[in-house]
Amino acid sequence: MYKKKQMVEVEIIDLGDKNQSFGRLEDGISIFVQGPAAVGDTVKAEIFKVKKKYLVARMCELVEPSPHRIDPVCPYFGLCGGCKWQHMNYAEQLRLKRKQVQDALEHLGGFKEIECEPALAAPNLFGYRNKMDFSFTDLRYLTPDEMGIEPGAHAKPLDFAVGFHAPGCFSKAIDIDHCDLSTEEMNITLNTVRKFCLAHRDELPIYSTHTHTGELRNLVVRHGGHTGEFMVNLVTSTHQAELMEQLCVALKDALGDRLTTFVNNTTSAKNTVAFGEKEFVLYGPGYITDRLGDYTYRISANSFFQTNTVQAEKLYNEILKAAQLKETDLVYDLFCGTGSITLFASGHCQKVLGVELVESSVRDARENAKRHNVDNCEFIQLDMKDFRKIEPELREFGAPDVVITDPPRAGMNPKAVKMLLEIAPPVIVYVSCNPASLARDGQMFCEEGQYRLVSCQPIDMFPQTNHVESVARFERCR
Ligand SMILES: C[S@@+](CC[C@H](N)C(=O)[O-])C[C@H]1O[C@@H](n2cnc3c(N)ncnc32)[C@H](O)[C@@H]1O
Repeated sequence: MYKKKQMVEVEIIDLGDKNQSFGRLEDGISIFVQGPAAVGDTVKAEIFKVKKKYLVARMCELVEPSPHRIDPVCPYFGLCGGCKWQHMNYAEQLRLKRKQVQDALEHLGGFKEIECEPALAAPNLFGYRNKMDFSFTDLRYLTPDEMGIEPGAHAKPLDFAVGFHAPGCFSKAIDIDHCDLSTEEMNITLNTVRKFCLAHRDELPIYSTHTHTGELRNLVVRHGGHTGEFMVNLVTSTHQAELMEQLCVALKDALGDRLTTFVNNTTSAKNTVAFGEKEFVLYGPGYITDRLGDYTYRISANSFFQTNTVQAEKLYNEILKAAQLKETDLVYDLFCGTGSITLFASGHCQKVLGVELVESSVRDARENAKRHNVDNCEFIQLDMKDFRKIEPELREFGAPDVVITDPPRAGMNPKAVKMLLEIAPPVIVYVSCNPASLARDGQMFCEEGQYRLVSCQPIDMFPQTNHVESVARFERCR
């Protein structure tokens, strides 16, 4: 019989999501261990949940390290939810990413026959992100070292933080001054903005998710991976014109001509999503550009753009490989963002229809097509849950030969899947940043024998994290 608070020693044999790993005790009972373990580690863990068929425990001590273990470079490792896998070598990260996709397809989607390809590696293991979103909170998350310090004796204020939310702790953020996935310019900006905001605390209080008062919400930075153009976007509740002018001067001082645009987005939303309702351009054109393959894309503050430029090119080439487009093909690009896949596809088929929710993304997409003299792309702004509403436009465009769909993490709305199944294109290429959504939506495509899954290519867009992208090709059976 096992009891709560009992210490056990276990060898880790697999990793799950949510920072949880898995092992079996000598009597065969399964144990889920919370904490940064690696496959092959032997750890001591304290049980905190006892169920009939399994135990849940917290990792307390590393007894014998796994051969895949390496020292994490980041001082916030284990606190910040970003780089959950910095303690594993890259070969092991890639093995686990492929396994994640394979397991989801097999166990959640019921795809027993499919063998995923090995995950495509990223060349840059750090500093690869072209976008970072730092949050402001009025509750600083304390590191274990700071726990015992008297409130008045802290080196940093307790009611100010700009950085990342600790996992599962949305009201607090870890006040970070450096992120290894960011570029140098992003880290300079983070510290410049922090200094400025601390010096103007009375005029720029932090927005509180409890009282819904205050100003500072998010700091979003974007860096053109190939162009070097750099955008700072401060998201606040209202536009404080004079202060924003002053911050602009501070940013120019710190970054020189590396800063190419500074915008202030404002929102009255009662949430912490870094999405502006109104935009004030304080410096530069209000957008940056970045290049993927032969195309240069215009990217506004609120528009989606793949966050790893180098890997995005690889991803798009894999999408083209999976789509096997012919010159005569009609193509839909669902969830098209700024039209980046749309343009990539446009040179290989007759015409493409992009569908996207966010107005600024659709604007950017049209602009992107125009600046490349691409005239075989159309874009429609639409919430995909209302896919059916554009039936007349779809009919006018013509029945698609290939549909590329790249939904957000949650996957496709079931109504959109239903409509897609009625349209029944010969090929669906599903691009996914969440293996569970791919498995669930893929199962809907295949459950009545309408489609079969023929290939799946995982791609690592985010080294050091447990995230994996994949491109799956579904073919219509009848
Ligand atoms: C994973 S991104 C893909 C973007 C694009 N395919 C690319 O590679 O840059 C998902 C996109 O779906 C859009 N989106 C989210 N929810 C949506 C919805 N309900 N209807 C239509 N588009 C949506 C987002 O704004 C975002 O641009």
